[in-house]
Amino acid sequence: MAQGGRRDHMPPALGFQIAMNGKARIFEQTLAQLGAVTREAAVKLFAGLRSDFDRDSASIRNQVEWKSFRDNWLGRKSGVLSQITDNWLKPAEPGLKPVVGQELNALRGHVEAVLEERRKAIEVAAEQSALARERIDLSFPGVERAIGTRHLIRQTFEELERIFLSIGFSVVEGPEIETPYYNFEALNIPEHHPARDNMDTFYIDAPGKPRGLLLRTHTSPMQIRTMEKQKPPVRIVVPGKVYRRDNPDATHNFMFHQIEGLAVDTDITFCDFKGTVEYFVREFLGAKVKTRLRPSYFPFTEPSAEVDASCHVCGGSGCRVCKNSGWIELFGAGMVNPAVYGFVDYDPKRLSGFAFGMGVDRLAFLRYGMNDLQVLFQNDVRFLRQFP
Ligand code: DAH
Repeated sequence: MAQGGRRDHMPPALGFQIAMNGKARIFEQTLAQLGAVTREAAVKLFAGLRSDFDRDSASIRNQVEWKSFRDNWLGRKSGVLSQITDNWLKPAEPGLKPVVGQELNALRGHVEAVLEERRKAIEVAAEQSALARERIDLSFPGVERAIGTRHLIRQTFEELERIFLSIGFSVVEGPEIETPYYNFEALNIPEHHPARDNMDTFYIDAPGKPRGLLLRTHTSPMQIRTMEKQKPPVRIVVPGKVYRRDNPDATHNFMFHQIEGLAVDTDITFCDFKGTVEYFVREFLGAKVKTRLRPSYFPFTEPSAEVDASCHVCGGSGCRVCKNSGWIELFGAGMVNPAVYGFVDYDPKRLSGFAFGMGVDRLAFLRYGMNDLQVLFQNDVRFLRQFP
């Protein structure tokens, strides 16, 4: 830090330095006090002031400094020139007055001219630096916003919907928070039925619902909601999220995706069911893939089936994907259990239909030969970029 009377830490315009005489600055004293009794001595004092002014004005860098510098010199009350008028001119000896007046006018003219010059220069410099700062180079490439892509699950949903829309199904969606009635009872799964065991889920306390609510364990409740609302014929698919109390591993997650299907009409047979399933499998996995139905059990279908496809990777000869069996289990399905119609006021004697429920994650998993379901939920861009 500068010591010993150096004032270079102050902005020059504020700490402007005019010759001192003892403690007081020279313009704070009269000419007589300064010992200037001749014309020459007065002229010399003015010359000294002018050179102080010239020196300090050269170091003004911006508008703020310029303003305070101007006030120091031209300020009405305590500006240098006002003080010179008061301290030098007014009390001057009559013989000196004319020359002091002349010198003062000349100095004022010089100060005003230089200040104006500096003001313009500072303004121009500020403008130029602003222009340089704000200059737009039109030859630069524009800002490119990376466009996201549809997640593989979304893409798979869209592919599944496309297939079913093409054969006359429509797409409906339903709530992820369900009542036990829609999720279980109306699907012919009574309270203590063992079929509930593998669908243990997340229950939610809800005011006014003594039995609580739950995160739906499957998209099947939308079968009931749709048939309650709409008279037959029904042909719907229901894409959506479902929840189960499963620990995440390579083939499980507590949240996954299903697409439900339901077709009910007066003349739907097992052949329609089989034909629809086969059409779907060929569309989704390829024309060479064969379909097989295996007996199974679901409370809301009778008979029930597991739909298997011949392995689309090895063609049925056995490989890692089909665990050497040549077949891959795709989804559960069956003819709608007449008991279900009782819950929705449909006439079981007149109506028949089929239903299916597919795990969408599993279908994507199989189709792309993945070995870990979790990559679908981790949002790692290295995975997502593979499905633009
Ligand atoms: N809801 C069943 C589940 O999540 C899947 C299912 C099986 C749905 C057969 C159906 C069906 O519509 O007919 O395990």
